[in-house]
Amino acid sequence: MNRERLRQALEFYRDLGIDEIRLAERREAARPAPVETVIAEVKKEPVVELPPLAPAEDTMEAIRADIGDCRRCRLCEQRNKIVFGAGNEQAPLVFVGEGPGADEDAQGLPFVGRAGQLLTQMIEGTSAKEGIPIQRADVYICNVVKCRPPENRTPQPDEMEICGQFLFRQLMAIRPKAICALGSTAAKALLGTKDVVMRLRGQWHKWRDIPVMVTYHPSYLLRPYNQNAKREAWEDLKKVLHYVYD
Ligand code: URA
Repeated sequence: MNRERLRQALEFYRDLGIDEIRLAERREAARPAPVETVIAEVKKEPVVELPPLAPAEDTMEAIRADIGDCRRCRLCEQRNKIVFGAGNEQAPLVFVGEGPGADEDAQGLPFVGRAGQLLTQMIEGTSAKEGIPIQRADVYICNVVKCRPPENRTPQPDEMEICGQFLFRQLMAIRPKAICALGSTAAKALLGTKDVVMRLRGQWHKWRDIPVMVTYHPSYLLRPYNQNAKREAWEDLKKVLHYVYD
């Protein structure tokens, strides 16, 4: 494994929040140990059972197969359907939401309820207005967690960590030109920040080397008192669409 592959491997585990790997990474940075030594540390003392690294030629099919009839966290108990994601698997733009709601859980598809209809309008309305010829089907849409949290509660950190490995593999397999994080759960999963959307939105961040724009979740925009946020979300989307498709 060369240094670049090692760095990517360490980043992968760091993105999952596994601190012991961070320790190994820090040691590697402080004292340029032979790469084999660092790998040995990682292998010797895993604190949790590490998910397999995304294979070099990972595919959406393989990720879907690995999810299987997932029972890795409590969200499996009340779900009807796993919502893997939908859209163009070669898309240059991926939208990441929080987790399925009731409609998505029933249909097994992301963003098909009221928030989904607004998201479609946002994508198709903004692109039409900006002269960018894309439809919702041209982008890829998925969520941080693939099973509906009961009562639409916010996913818990362990649920995000477990399911996050599949989100990261999806993003690595698609390798989009940009990601749009919808709401604070997606921002937290991708950027590891607890900062509020209001402060994160409108500027570019990064997940690995991929630019990430954070904007408001469509459910938030559906609330009548958030009209100003609606205008801001449209601004954010304009930025994303021009960056990706110009
Ligand atoms: N909200 C989300 O975050 N994702 C969906 O798929 C639907 C609603």
